[in-house]
Amino acid sequence: MTNQVKIFDTTLRDGEQALPASLSAKEKLQIALALERLGVDVIEAGFPVSSPGDFQSVQMIAREIKNSTVCGLSRAVKGDIDACGQALGVAEQFRIHTFLATSEIHVNAKLRKSQDEIVEMAVAAVKHARRYTDDVEFSCEDAGRTHIDYLCRMVEQAIKAGATTVNIPDTVGYTTPTEFGDIINNLFNRVPNIDQAIISVHCHNDLGLATANSLAAIENGARQVECTINGIGERAGNSSLEEIAMILQTRREMLGLETNIQSKEISRTSKLVSQLCNMPVQANKAIVGANAFSHSSGIHQDGVLKAQNTYEIMTPESVGINKNNLNLTSRSGRHVIKHRLTELGYNLEDYNLEDVYQQFLALADTKGTVYDYDLEALLFFDQQKHEAAHFKLLYLQANSGHEIIPSATVKLQVGDEEVTRTSTGNGPVDAAYEAIMQILGHQDVEVVDFKLDSKGEGADALAQVSVIAEYKGRRFHGLGLATDIVEAGVNALIYVLNNTHIADQIDQQKIQQERVAGV
Ligand code: KIV
Ligand code: ZN
Repeated sequence: MTNQVKIFDTTLRDGEQALPASLSAKEKLQIALALERLGVDVIEAGFPVSSPGDFQSVQMIAREIKNSTVCGLSRAVKGDIDACGQALGVAEQFRIHTFLATSEIHVNAKLRKSQDEIVEMAVAAVKHARRYTDDVEFSCEDAGRTHIDYLCRMVEQAIKAGATTVNIPDTVGYTTPTEFGDIINNLFNRVPNIDQAIISVHCHNDLGLATANSLAAIENGARQVECTINGIGERAGNSSLEEIAMILQTRREMLGLETNIQSKEISRTSKLVSQLCNMPVQANKAIVGANAFSHSSGIHQDGVLKAQNTYEIMTPESVGINKNNLNLTSRSGRHVIKHRLTELGYNLEDYNLEDVYQQFLALADTKGTVYDYDLEALLFFDQQKHEAAHFKLLYLQANSGHEIIPSATVKLQVGDEEVTRTSTGNGPVDAAYEAIMQILGHQDVEVVDFKLDSKGEGADALAQVSVIAEYKGRRFHGLGLATDIVEAGVNALIYVLNNTHIADQIDQQKIQQERVAGV
């Protein structure tokens, strides 16, 4: 058996489906590119049949990603599989992932079919997917609660029909490591054609056992693990990629297994996903939490100073945490900024140096000293800019204070027009938002969540605002950054507006295509 464990990342599918607001196509592509850099073998980019937006983003990712296999999810029905085939066809390498529930409770209560019918459906789905590609994965949804005899039958039939990977999900995070390891062991002992496919696992974290269960499965022969960055996903989430990757790396001598993960990319990818998905990482989270490498007790600090490995089983550098925080000022030139960003792991293709440098100078003028986290924040926001943004902030003035009525004047570029409005509100952000709503001329966009955070330390830190707004029954997330809190809030709302504008365009295109096709 190979000692190579494939890493299948489902941040953009299982992770994304659990977010409070969906990601834009551009944000998904940014995450996909980060996953490719991280060395992920398979990127599950979405569920193409679920919406026109998902179809487009899967297609965009399929077009751009060259070094990872791009995968799409489908139920075990023709229409879903066809949507996957169409969205993924442009990819260098792609996989169709089709699934069907196999546990008694799902088969009886949800699907209301006999076990024989389920086997037939699975076989037909795998065969249909094989018309598009040789790389087909079949998942036995809720395998963790499926009777082992039936599970063996399903796995055997799926492989016979042409599945090259068979996934065994613990969909509801119910099993324990010994139990889950035994399921995998049983499959290897009882399914006659098991050597013709890779056995994969997909564990949810409802009892906090997702990573332990995945590891037990690997120890029993599974050679693909499905996981997400920061463990995001349905309910309590999925097995987290960074934990699996670092277990296999840190305990390589004992386990004797390899992955293609470039561990130095972990921290950066984790931050990107957390920020774009609006999902903060708990401080004590293994590998990527803010405290994962900080030592609080005096005894520990003393030990680490004497020999790092007294209390550190892996180095922060091995997951890309750079503790060297260089202070930059307005006297620092472009080449220093470029050099620092390279040290932080960013390639010149990741950003526009001139743009970032101009923003850096403006920030250095306001703040004096610019730190790594400021620079990374600027870069992050530079990457979020919409090239052809429909809405742009041209001018903002906000007044607030003790015993005055807060007011704000906002001038926006809306397409080719420039529009200015002034309004009052119960605070300067509320006043600015009210002015923007007046510019929009409608109230379809409703802000349902507003969070203010500081990037970095001290009173002069950059303000980051995260906003969730509802528009036409969907939720959109936006981020804004500025030294001024009101401006950060306005930037976040403009980010949302640009995404709602793109969503409207996608819907229009779909209506147009359907009209042409006579649907
Ligand atoms: O949890 C699950 O069973 C899934 C499948 C679609 C693989 O996400
Ligand atoms: Zn899942």
